[in-house]
Amino acid sequence: MVMVERAFLPFALPDIGEEEINEVVDSLRSGWLTTGPKTKRFEEEFAAFIGDGFEAIAVNSATAGLHLALEAVGVGPGDEVITTPYTFTATAEVVRYLDANPVFVDTDAVTFNLDPAKIESAITSRTKAIIPVHFAGLACDMASIIALARKYDLKVIEDAAHALPTTCSGQLIGALDSDATVYSFYATKTITTGEGGMVVVRNPEVANRCRVMRLHGISRDAFNRYTSTKPSWHYEVVAPGCKYNMTDVAASLGLHQLKKAWQFQKRREEMAAFYDAAFADLPIMLPSHAPTGDTHAWHLYVIRLTDSAPVTRDRFIELMAEQGVGCSVHFIPLHLHPYWRDRYNLKPSDFPNALENYQRAVSLPLFTKMTAADQERVVDAVRGILS
Ligand SMILES: Cc1ncc(COP(=O)(O)O)c(C=O)c1O
Repeated sequence: MVMVERAFLPFALPDIGEEEINEVVDSLRSGWLTTGPKTKRFEEEFAAFIGDGFEAIAVNSATAGLHLALEAVGVGPGDEVITTPYTFTATAEVVRYLDANPVFVDTDAVTFNLDPAKIESAITSRTKAIIPVHFAGLACDMASIIALARKYDLKVIEDAAHALPTTCSGQLIGALDSDATVYSFYATKTITTGEGGMVVVRNPEVANRCRVMRLHGISRDAFNRYTSTKPSWHYEVVAPGCKYNMTDVAASLGLHQLKKAWQFQKRREEMAAFYDAAFADLPIMLPSHAPTGDTHAWHLYVIRLTDSAPVTRDRFIELMAEQGVGCSVHFIPLHLHPYWRDRYNLKPSDFPNALENYQRAVSLPLFTKMTAADQERVVDAVRGILS
């Protein structure tokens, strides 16, 4: 008998079409490899996607975008920024770039998102901003967070790395009354440019500061330099900026990925519903859904093993891998990592919901190129372990 080895099924893969490939080739042939006309067009189309009156600033990662946004709203040395421990380290590390301090607040036991009820007691005279993270693509309770920010005169920078497209009370994340929203286009995200990100803001001064700091603190970017009527060699440095600009090669991907954002979301939503139905009787807690009428971006499909599961979370992931199915864990909470633990003297029990969710969480494969057979394979493997 011939054994047919099935290919390993990863937990995420990008969905790149011929349009993206042709656009990249067009950029390569055009000579505009770095920030140029396609980045500008991607910014314009992204801003229009979010709504009227917004500006979009393309960057080379969400990490870069979060850093720029915090700097632009005035976060500086000694300031405190409230955020969640249930995130990727980028969310908090950018606070440290500015010599400010993240203050972690525990998450909601069910949604994985920041619990607004716990934010207020963490506010001090040094608190400058809040960074909510829309975990997996489910919006945080933004009405409560924005109300708190108004009450205490705090800035709100949304980490929307997972949240394109996500809605909150009928409005797209990005179009709410926060100070900036930052998206990630990393290879596993809902739309991708390989590496990349976007900052969306309403305030033109904040937008301008992000633009200047994105490219070495130069008051005009390379594209403007070559298209402006001033001498092309002339520029002025007004601050010690960063090198965070997006390339036209990356923007070539983004232009076409953005057009598919809603189509991708629909597909992800269908796949999530398929998993929900297939797992309804198993000893797992299924992911939270958006409230009726709102959209979940379904960047991730995260199940949590309950106490009646026959195996531990770690063993579950090993058994899935033995069957050729890749899983991941989002996230190892920040307070368990040596840097954050030691820098702020944090104990595992300081954030009990984050800890408990982490111990139970598994991200299952969810990407738009998965076939029905791929999904059946995941379901068979999960059911085989947990039934
Ligand atoms: C919640 C969150 N914030 C920020 C980032 C950073 O994104 P990027 O890789 O584009 O810098 C990530 C990346 O995975 C993330 O998951």
